[in-house]
Amino acid sequence: MPNTLPTEQSFDEFDEINYPRPEISDFEKVVDRAMSRRALLGRGLGLGAAAFVMGTTALTPMTARADGRFGFTPVPANTLDTVTVPDGYSWHIVAKWGDPLWSDAANFDEATTGTGATQERQFGDNNDGMSLFVDGGRTILAVNNEYTNRSIMYHARETKLPENADDVRKGKAAHGVSVVEVARNDGVWGIVKDSHYNRRITADTPMMITGPAAGHDLLKTSADRSGTTSLGTWNNCGNGKTPWGTYLACEENFNGYFSSSDPEYKPSAELSRYGVGLKDWGYAWATADERFDISKHPNEPNRAGYIVEIDPLDPTSTPKKRTALGRFKHENAEVVIAGNGHVVVYLGDDERGEFLYKFVSNGTYSAGGDNTDLLEDGSIFVAKFADDMRGEWVELTPAATGMKSQAEICIHTRQAASAVGATTMDRPEWVAANPNKVEAYCCLTNNKNRGKKPNKGGDKTPVGGPNPRAGNNYGQIVRWIPDNGDHTATGFAWDLFVTAGNPTVHSDAYAGSKNVTADNTFNSPDGLAFDSTGMLWIQTDGKYSNAGDFANQGNNQMLVGDPETGEIHRFMVGPNECEVTGISWSPDRKTVFVGLQHPGEKGNSHFPGGGSSLPRSVVIAIQRDDGGLVG
Ligand code: FEO
Ligand code: CA
Ligand code: CA
Repeated sequence: MPNTLPTEQSFDEFDEINYPRPEISDFEKVVDRAMSRRALLGRGLGLGAAAFVMGTTALTPMTARADGRFGFTPVPANTLDTVTVPDGYSWHIVAKWGDPLWSDAANFDEATTGTGATQERQFGDNNDGMSLFVDGGRTILAVNNEYTNRSIMYHARETKLPENADDVRKGKAAHGVSVVEVARNDGVWGIVKDSHYNRRITADTPMMITGPAAGHDLLKTSADRSGTTSLGTWNNCGNGKTPWGTYLACEENFNGYFSSSDPEYKPSAELSRYGVGLKDWGYAWATADERFDISKHPNEPNRAGYIVEIDPLDPTSTPKKRTALGRFKHENAEVVIAGNGHVVVYLGDDERGEFLYKFVSNGTYSAGGDNTDLLEDGSIFVAKFADDMRGEWVELTPAATGMKSQAEICIHTRQAASAVGATTMDRPEWVAANPNKVEAYCCLTNNKNRGKKPNKGGDKTPVGGPNPRAGNNYGQIVRWIPDNGDHTATGFAWDLFVTAGNPTVHSDAYAGSKNVTADNTFNSPDGLAFDSTGMLWIQTDGKYSNAGDFANQGNNQMLVGDPETGEIHRFMVGPNECEVTGISWSPDRKTVFVGLQHPGEKGNSHFPGGGSSLPRSVVIAIQRDDGGLVG
């Protein structure tokens, strides 16, 4: 039966409505009042206060200083249904939803959006994180296909929702990962059809489950009594790339695909913490594939929410779910090799009031050696931030969490982090590590519940530390410097690189930090990556009303920040109702590949085709007209 849910709520909106958090507590009301007073102290609350408290410590106070590190003229905000890049730059489309990857695959059919069979041989929908790999002069792009907009994919159906088994097959095939060879001809990048690298990984591709949780009873199902093999990956948001040449796809809002055929079924508290409940998000997968029915297969959701490691150069390889890196709504996976050779992976859990994590491998990286299973085992830590600009990574062990085993910690990671009193964050999105310095940054995209409501586990979300504003609808970027220049250290110092805001509307803390101006104002930083020179690229997934609190901010956009000076300039503006997400550079840094996801998610875009065409998510390439370096 087609689902009659409203189809285009965000995951967060859906979860909040259908799986509400505990009622507001008296404590939270007190915090809210306190924040209202603190907000009156002025916009110094965020960055200003941080810089003040920092005093003479190692972190660099931020002052705007034009030092020529920006190779472009900033672009103004706009609400055009196209891509805007700086003067002297051009853009073109590399790949879009529905593009055939093989010559015998169908072209995209706008009228119907195709079938399950055609989608399985086409570029997936709603591209998100991506990485570029080079193999003997060939260029391979691995791209997440996070989700689908039901009202666009099923626009030809009366309900605008999947109505039969093939509709569901098409939806599942539009998810996962697309691996495509790309080549540049006459300055224009495009898909190399029939390349032996081309591959679609979907919600039905066989996967291996590895690490501490593999084989645990909570992962066993009637189809997999071993608890070590599963089918598919979906809702892959941000990504990661390892120095040994693998691609990491990060499973985020995996919960929105499960439902219950039994309306009386009572999901466990463990499932509820992850937002798994009786209703899915309108995908109806359980109607055609019983494993998504939690009343019949309650362990199936425990097999999603992981980091998936993929060899992009071997289309016959089996992707591996790396349970050692924990189970939550994974954003991206930022991999760094610490000075002592251990692999450190920074990981955000993108939900209001959830946590920031770090994995440290047991083994050490060896250049040119066998690094295949470095993500198989290691320690997982969660961040605790203190108001004195210090913080600590707390290891999640059975002793620290009261849980029975490391396997259980790797499955119920959120509960483990709650047990050690980790800091509830304003929705940790991408983490990026500076290639020039031992420091890392994380986008805390926004959190309307800050200071107002606990997280789904009932943990309080007081205003303070790196989450300094109640009802935070603009977001901020936190930065930390590990002690002793060592990413495996448990202590760190932190500050805020930027608190986003709108100085054209507010004059208090909601105006943003000093490096936010009328010219670069933005909200909801999400995608985040350093280029090879150490400049920080910031992509937004926020409100695009261009009105009220968001006046003069225009469409979602991409900005570049200088970590040394704090200066931020807008590089690109996306088309209407899109999110800008996913970024990768060609090795010569003459092309930057950027993802534009869900243009027209609310029905108001015809990007990229124009006219009355169906909006489609795309990967674009941006280059300088003079062939110079980008950025
Ligand atoms: Fe898929 Fe947290 O964004
Ligand atoms: Ca994101
Ligand atoms: Ca986001």
